[in-house]
Amino acid sequence: MKDIITLGIESSCDETAVAVIKNGREILSNIIDTQIPIHEKYGGVVPEIASRNHIEAISRVTKKALNDAKITLDEVDVITPTYGPGLIGALLVGLSYAKALSFANNKPLVGLNHIEGHIAANYLTYPNLQPPFLCMMMSGGNTQIVHVKDYCEFEVLGKTRDDAIGEAFDKVARVVGLGYPGGPKVDKLAEEGKPTIELPKTHFDNLDFSFSGIKTAVINLNHKMPDINKADLCASFEKTMTEILVENIQKAIQATGIHTVALAGGVSANKYIRKAFLDLPNTKVYMPDLKLCTDNAAMIGSAGYYNYMAGKRSDLNLNAVANLKLC
Ligand code: KG4
Repeated sequence: MKDIITLGIESSCDETAVAVIKNGREILSNIIDTQIPIHEKYGGVVPEIASRNHIEAISRVTKKALNDAKITLDEVDVITPTYGPGLIGALLVGLSYAKALSFANNKPLVGLNHIEGHIAANYLTYPNLQPPFLCMMMSGGNTQIVHVKDYCEFEVLGKTRDDAIGEAFDKVARVVGLGYPGGPKVDKLAEEGKPTIELPKTHFDNLDFSFSGIKTAVINLNHKMPDINKADLCASFEKTMTEILVENIQKAIQATGIHTVALAGGVSANKYIRKAFLDLPNTKVYMPDLKLCTDNAAMIGSAGYYNYMAGKRSDLNLNAVANLKLC
């Protein structure tokens, strides 16, 4: 069978990324132009600045992705941009660029859900992984337990009722003075601390999450006790967050009888969380390579391949959708 080459394009937040993927599983190139140093001084992503920097980068990053893959645009079979969820202006840059490439070169266009991309990061790390499995999806904007029934068929079993997990990590980092992006900094400082501080957990009868209570508890403790050991606070926060995740995924395993769990999203780079999931009894656990956990276009190209093979096509009317749902 002929190889299918997808050109993944990702610009939903603060990374301009383009990747060339073969048959959904092999990375021929994966270029990420990060804006983190630009947004660092503001303590978070400034949407308008993100859009402007995507415009400046997108063409250069695409050329580099094609060069590194040693192919020309002619050899690309399908162009697969992220069209949501994310920052609307940022999304529009990658999507408009992809639409222009598709129109000018007469190539099919398949718009991709960013969350679906995060799940597909596992297919790039594990060439033999196939659905069905459960996915603990944890990013800056989303936290949900997904039943991945097939490559393009999903059911959300539980989700956050307030903050996304990455948001909570970033907020905690900010209040303890670690800066942006907070997750990796909390991860690092927590290694030096002891999880001795008790923090609240919110439980529901179903598989939903809530992180606002624990986030507020950390903010209040830090405010009332300015001399509190920050490393201990981060370690306690990370441990309690992990317990919340593990309790819910165990409930999901019990409810579905599915003992295969994949992690996805930026927070799945967290060392403590990765270890806790690997320790789950009677469960086969998959987690993306660290470089594929946070935003990248390789995962978008992989998910794009499966959508293309399933016959999905987008037309030039496709618009960006800031709050696009997985299903
Ligand atoms: O998936 P992602 O790159 O972007 C979205 O699609 O939202 O996730 C970004 C989030 C940020 O909140 C960042 O702080 C968090 O992932 N993150 C981490 C770690 N690395 C990134 N959180 C905890 N520990 C980490 N090592």
